[in-house]
Amino acid sequence: MALVVALTGGSGFIGGQIARMLVGQGVSVRALSRTQSGMDGGILWVRGSLEDARSLAELMVGAQAVIHCAGAVRGRGAESFHTVNVDGSRRVMEAVVQSGTCERFLHMSSLAARHPELSWYSRSKADAEEAVLCAAGTVSVGIFRPTAVYGPGDRELQPLFTWLMRGLLVRLGAGEAHLSFVHVFDLAAAATQWITAPVAKPATYEISDGTPGGYSWKGLANIGADIRQARVWQIRVSIRLLKAIAQVNLALSYLLPRAPMLTTSKVNELIHPDWTCSNTAISAAIGWVPQIKLRRALQDGLF
Ligand SMILES: NC(=O)c1ccc[n+]([C@@H]2O[C@H](COP(=O)([O-])OP(=O)(O)OC[C@H]3O[C@@H](n4cnc5c(N)ncnc54)[C@H](OP(=O)(O)O)[C@@H]3O)[C@@H](O)[C@H]2O)c1
Repeated sequence: MALVVALTGGSGFIGGQIARMLVGQGVSVRALSRTQSGMDGGILWVRGSLEDARSLAELMVGAQAVIHCAGAVRGRGAESFHTVNVDGSRRVMEAVVQSGTCERFLHMSSLAARHPELSWYSRSKADAEEAVLCAAGTVSVGIFRPTAVYGPGDRELQPLFTWLMRGLLVRLGAGEAHLSFVHVFDLAAAATQWITAPVAKPATYEISDGTPGGYSWKGLANIGADIRQARVWQIRVSIRLLKAIAQVNLALSYLLPRAPMLTTSKVNELIHPDWTCSNTAISAAIGWVPQIKLRRALQDGLF
């Protein structure tokens, strides 16, 4: 019998890639959507939201595993992140426990959860991990903490890489900062592998493209220059200017329907000097290793 996986966030950047990969592997996917219902793209869409316990119960029908990928990545304040990321995650886990059929729960957290003190978002991701673990009972939980994710369908990092390939790198914050990235294809492969691995140890896994020490701003500029065979100019946006832009962005967002990504709270995350991480735990647990380094993705236009 085909494995049935219940997925949240399937209409999003990361969840969408996971959904397509699961379908490609013959897994039966039930995905929560706030706008869609019925079969589409080989996925059974269950209409509902993280706020609606009834739709979450329907989502779990017959599922043996859950990938919880829905989350707020933009917001105007701590409360809005908490409502979606913490309360929503707790509700998904409660539905899993009540289903009686789901044995495994993959929670898509973020490397940001390593530093809850930095932002509304990072606090909510750390608190969501705790909420999920508290409500889990006997359900086997895997927590993924991916670093910055990029790839087809992404809108946040895409401008950075597009400009890099045009010869301009916009550097935010400290010049000596070290960042890491993971391609969405690799992250989706890790998720599908964890959910189907014969033994998945309950644990928290950091996930990146495996470049030791990550990437410095200078390293990024060098990669761009190598591929372009031409110089990359670096523009440094000072923290003060970044915070001023963030303040204006937050104020203007009240005039728009979409919540803002760049806020003064987010700036603290962006300028953090160390976003490197190691795949040791996930590789040891399920044998996953990333296949796509940033240089190759930039070279092949996979962003
Ligand atoms: N992108 C990154 O670099 C990155 C890095 C680390 C971790 N993560 C984590 O990965 C997850 C997915 O991120 P993403 O980049 O794919 O974000 P995204 O493209 O904005 O997708 C978010 C998804 O969550 C759904 N969602 C949000 N609020 C919901 C609610 N109240 N009820 C039901 N569904 C809701 C959205 O549904 P709608 O389509 O209906 O809005 C969408 O499917 C998030 O938990 C994020 O924290 C992302």
